[in-house]
Amino acid sequence: MQTFIQSVIDKYAASTVRLLDILRDIQAEYQHISSPAIELLSSQLNIPRTQIISVIEFYSFLHASPTGKYDILISDSITDLMLDKENLLNYFASQLKLTVGELRSDGLVSLNNTSCTGMCDQGPAGLVNGYALTHLDRPRVDAIVKLVEQQVPVAEWPSEFFQVDDNIHQAGLLLQAPIQAGEGLKASFKRGVQKTLQEIDISGLRGRGGAGFKTAMKWRFCSEEQETERYVVCNADEGEPGTFKDRVLLNSYAHQVFEGMTICASIINAQQGFLYLRGEYLHLYQPLLDILEERRKLNLLGKNILDQQHFNFDIEIRLGCGAYICGEESALIESLEGKRGIPRNRPPYPVSQGYLNKPTVVNNVETFLATAKIAVEGGQWFADIGTEQSKGTKILSISGDCAKSGIYEYPFGTSIAQVLEDCGATDVLGIQVGGPSGTFIDISEDQRKLAFEDLATGGSFIIFNQSRNILDIVKNFTHFFAHESCGFCTPCRVGTALLKKQLDKITDGHGSAGDVVALEELCQLVKNNSHCGLGQTAANPILSTLERYPEHYQKQLKAISYEPGFDLDASLETARRLANRDDAGAHLSQVEED
Ligand SMILES: Cc1cc2nc3c(=O)[nH]c(=O)nc-3n(C[C@H](O)[C@H](O)[C@H](O)COP(=O)(O)O)c2cc1C
Ligand code: SF4
Repeated sequence: MQTFIQSVIDKYAASTVRLLDILRDIQAEYQHISSPAIELLSSQLNIPRTQIISVIEFYSFLHASPTGKYDILISDSITDLMLDKENLLNYFASQLKLTVGELRSDGLVSLNNTSCTGMCDQGPAGLVNGYALTHLDRPRVDAIVKLVEQQVPVAEWPSEFFQVDDNIHQAGLLLQAPIQAGEGLKASFKRGVQKTLQEIDISGLRGRGGAGFKTAMKWRFCSEEQETERYVVCNADEGEPGTFKDRVLLNSYAHQVFEGMTICASIINAQQGFLYLRGEYLHLYQPLLDILEERRKLNLLGKNILDQQHFNFDIEIRLGCGAYICGEESALIESLEGKRGIPRNRPPYPVSQGYLNKPTVVNNVETFLATAKIAVEGGQWFADIGTEQSKGTKILSISGDCAKSGIYEYPFGTSIAQVLEDCGATDVLGIQVGGPSGTFIDISEDQRKLAFEDLATGGSFIIFNQSRNILDIVKNFTHFFAHESCGFCTPCRVGTALLKKQLDKITDGHGSAGDVVALEELCQLVKNNSHCGLGQTAANPILSTLERYPEHYQKQLKAISYEPGFDLDASLETARRLANRDDAGAHLSQVEED
C-alpha cells in the first residue's frame, strides 16, 4: 500500500490542493481510504489527520470504511422515483442478496442511493464505480448481478449499459451551429480582446448557472484587480436535480466551451483555467482530456496561443466527489483547493479573491459556450433575441411526464405553454422550473415566460402530470436539501433536518393544522437565516407548493389539534415492563382529540 500511495502523492507533486485527486485515486484502488493511508498522507503532505478525515467525511464519494469492489449507486432523483426506482432498487438488493446502504459480507459489492446523477432523460440511472449507468430495468439488473458475481471488470461490461445520449430535440442560436475550433479566438484577436469584451457587454449575456450576473461585468471586475495572477473556472458541477444540459454541452460542444474559457483568459489575462467536473460525469473525463490535448496541438492552449506573444493559458480538469454544495462558486473554489466545500463569506467575491485568494472568474458551462459564439457573431446578434432583461437563448433540460425528455434551446421570453407543447406534455399538474431550488408552478401559470424577470432557471424543467402526488415530490426535494446541506451554519444544518422531519410527519398522516403553520414558520427561518444559496432556497419546494396546492396538504392532516413527533408513551415501555404493568392507567395519551 505504501508504495502505491507514495506513487499517487508523487503523481500530484505532493500538492495539498490536489488532496481530492489523491483521495480519489486511493479510493479507486482500495475501495476506501484506510487509517494507515490517512496517517501516511498526513505525514507526507503535512496536513493534520483530522483535516483529511473531515474532507473524506464531507464528500459522498469518499469513504473511510470499505465499499464493495463493485460500488453501485442508484439515483434518487424525483424522475427516477417516478420510473419506479424504489422497486428496482429493492429488486437489485434482493438479487445481490444484500441490504441497501451496506457492504455485502464477502466485500464484493455494495449498493446505495445517491443524489440525482444528471441522467433524468434516460433513467432510472445509477453509477458503478463512478461510471454512469442508464436505462436500468429488471433485465439489465439481472445482467449486472451476473457480471458482478462472475467478477467481470467494469471495463468489460456491455457498452450499451453506459450509453449516454444527448437527446437534443430543439436547437437554437447556440446548439444549431457550433463554431470551429479556434474560430472564436481568431475573431477576438482580430477585433482586439478588449473590443470583444465590449461585444459581450452589448450581447447582454447573463450567467446561465442561475444567478444571472452580467458576464461582461464579472470579467471586467476581474481584469481590473491589481493582482496579476488570475484564474478562469468553468463550473460543471451541475448538481441541481433535473439539470443535465452541461453534460450534453461537454459531450458534444466541448471545444466551444474551452474556447469561451480561453477568450475569457485573454481578456482578464489569466494563465490557468480549471474545469470543475462533477464526479457523476466521470465518463466525460477522458474524452475531455483528449480534447484539451487536441487543442494544445492546434496551439489553442499552451504558450503563445495562436502566435499571440505572451498569451499563455492552459486548462486542467478537476473532478468533484459528490457534493451538490460544490456548485456554489466559493464552495467550488474551496474544493479546488483540496478542502471541504464550505461556502465562503462574500464579499470578497471570487473576482477579487477566488482560487488561492487570487482574482478568479467562475462561469457556468453554457455561459462560456455563449461567449465563444458571441466572439464570432458579435454582441448584437445575441441581443436581438430574448426579452428586455434576458437576452439570447436558454438551454433547458426537460424531464418528467412528457413524450420527449431531453435538451431544448429557447429564446428567452418563450411561454411555459409552448415548452409543454413541444415536449409532448399533457394532463399537466405542475412544473418545477429551476430544480428544487427554483419555483414550482401550477399549470394555470402556463402563460408565464422563461426569463430572469419572470421564471429564472439554471436549466432544470421537470414536468408532473395529474397522477403525481405533490407531497411525494416535495418530500423528495426536502430530503435532498437535508442530505446536501454542508452543515456549516445552524439555520440550514438543523433547519433542513427539521423541515424533513416535519414534512415526513405530515406526509405520514400524523400532522395537524398546527403542524402546517409550524412548517411554514420553519421555512421562513431557514430561508432568511442561512449562510448561502442552498439554505436560502431549501424551503422553496414547500413554500411554493403550500401557496399553490394547500388542499394537497390539508388532505393529509389528521382531525386533531396536535400529535407530538416524539412518542412519549412508547418511550415508557421499559418502565412499564419493570413495574409489570400494562393497564390503561400506565399509558399516556398524547393525541388531543378535537
Ligand atoms: C447550492 C448552489 C449550487 C449551485 N450549483 C451550480 C452549478 O452546478 N453550476 C453553476 O454553474 N452554478 C451553480 N451555482 C451558482 C454559482 O454559485 C455561480 O453563481 C455560477 O457558477 C456563476 O456562473 P454564471 O455567472 O455563468 O452563472 C450554484 C449556487 C448554489 C447556491
Ligand atoms: S446554508 Fe447550508 S449549505 Fe450553505 S453554508 Fe449554511 S449549512 Fe452550508
